[in-house]
Amino acid sequence: MNISILGAGYVGLVTGTCLANMNHDVICIDVNKKKVESINKGIAPIYEIGLSELLAKNKNRIIATTNPSNIKKTDITFICLGTPSKKNRNIDLSNIKQGAIDIGKIIKQKDWHVVIIKSTILPGTTKDFIIPILEKNSGKKAGRDFGVAMNPEFLKEGKAIQDFLNPDRIVIGTEDDKTKKILKKLYENFRCPKVFTGFSEAEMIKYASNAFLATKISFINEIGNFCKKLDIDTYKIADGMGYDKRIERAFLNSGIGWGGSCFPKDIKALITMANKYDEKLKILENVVKVNDLQPLKIVEILKKHFPSIKGKNIGVLGLSFKKDTDDIRESRAIPVIKKLLQEKAIIKVYDPKAMDNFKKIFPQINYSNINNILNSDAILILTDWDEFRKLNYKGKLIIDGRRLEEAKQGIYEGICW
Ligand SMILES: NC(=O)c1ccc[n+]([C@@H]2O[C@H](COP(=O)([O-])OP(=O)(O)OC[C@H]3O[C@@H](n4cnc5c(N)ncnc54)[C@H](O)[C@@H]3O)[C@@H](O)[C@H]2O)c1
Repeated sequence: MNISILGAGYVGLVTGTCLANMNHDVICIDVNKKKVESINKGIAPIYEIGLSELLAKNKNRIIATTNPSNIKKTDITFICLGTPSKKNRNIDLSNIKQGAIDIGKIIKQKDWHVVIIKSTILPGTTKDFIIPILEKNSGKKAGRDFGVAMNPEFLKEGKAIQDFLNPDRIVIGTEDDKTKKILKKLYENFRCPKVFTGFSEAEMIKYASNAFLATKISFINEIGNFCKKLDIDTYKIADGMGYDKRIERAFLNSGIGWGGSCFPKDIKALITMANKYDEKLKILENVVKVNDLQPLKIVEILKKHFPSIKGKNIGVLGLSFKKDTDDIRESRAIPVIKKLLQEKAIIKVYDPKAMDNFKKIFPQINYSNINNILNSDAILILTDWDEFRKLNYKGKLIIDGRRLEEAKQGIYEGICW
């Protein structure tokens, strides 16, 4: 099939590259010229395991451009545009609006086109926001003159390619049979359950899934904080719980909390939307509260060792929101660094992939090499990159937010174990 991808970020580029690898011809459209140039050179502009190799392998089947009129050359357009939070916690739909205008103008000139929304959008957005823009700009009717599907993405950064190619399920929200058939064909080689729903159900499945996973993490962090006071190892508790099929072990690793480009913004957007319907999402409000406090516990522990951390050399290992990504959006390292700056510590940081991104928000701290971090009064582990396992921690004061077993050789304390 001829496929265009609007927005070549983490989701768009992974989707486009994987579809190209499945022999589809793919055009990635992105407003960011640097990203476009990099993709056309066969170099991934983001760090994601295996992405550069897969992109280079499929160079002849994937091109990138800044010009949305290229949508015309394709039969299907995936919307993979960002949906960040606004300051008031609402979802910012400005990228989606522009994308829908661009696509609508192209649909006007075509017989049939399918628009597949992969961006995370609140229930009702496809029906009440995107379709009206597409119809207005095309002068055509959704379901009759062009197809629309809401197909949320569940990939995890760091394992994005693996997740895209081997999903646990594919959710397809569509309300016309022609589009349903096209999506069935597109995903025919994926051997996982396919859940067919309406638009709003597909949108809500994504939010409810992220909300549930974040809840699991905040839950085990709360249990972990209590276990630490009782001198109980919370990881043993998680193992014991995880054998129960109703619970599952995944997402029960306690630590400094969840971050990233999805959980924080999605959960806040869902809470804000529910408030407008006079529905208080009490569990989720507390899930966020637990998460906001969790990273600061690492500084509280630090203060047990030094009554004042002013002027102390604090080394930080890991800045990305989790290992194997350069993404620092809502990374738990951000509140920790802010707090250390407030307390006037001297901060040295290292991350294998995320330092360039971090420098954009914290230019004033020292970006160091990995070995130099060891020469600090205390070392905080904020992301569990595999390379941190090889360090010699003997004799060093380590406060660990990620449960790096190897760091236990040092003078060691875990955040909630
Ligand atoms: N990152 C994840 O792990 C993940 C997982 C599942 C779902 N999602 C959802 O997928 C969506 C995309 O997330 P992402 O992390 O890939 O975002 P991203 O910010 O990495 O990528 C979005 C891209 O869109 C481009 N863009 C913005 N406006 C544009 C326009 N008008 N035309 C063309 N390009 C434009 C940006 O330059 C950027 O490259 C979001 O809704 C997100 O919630 C993300």
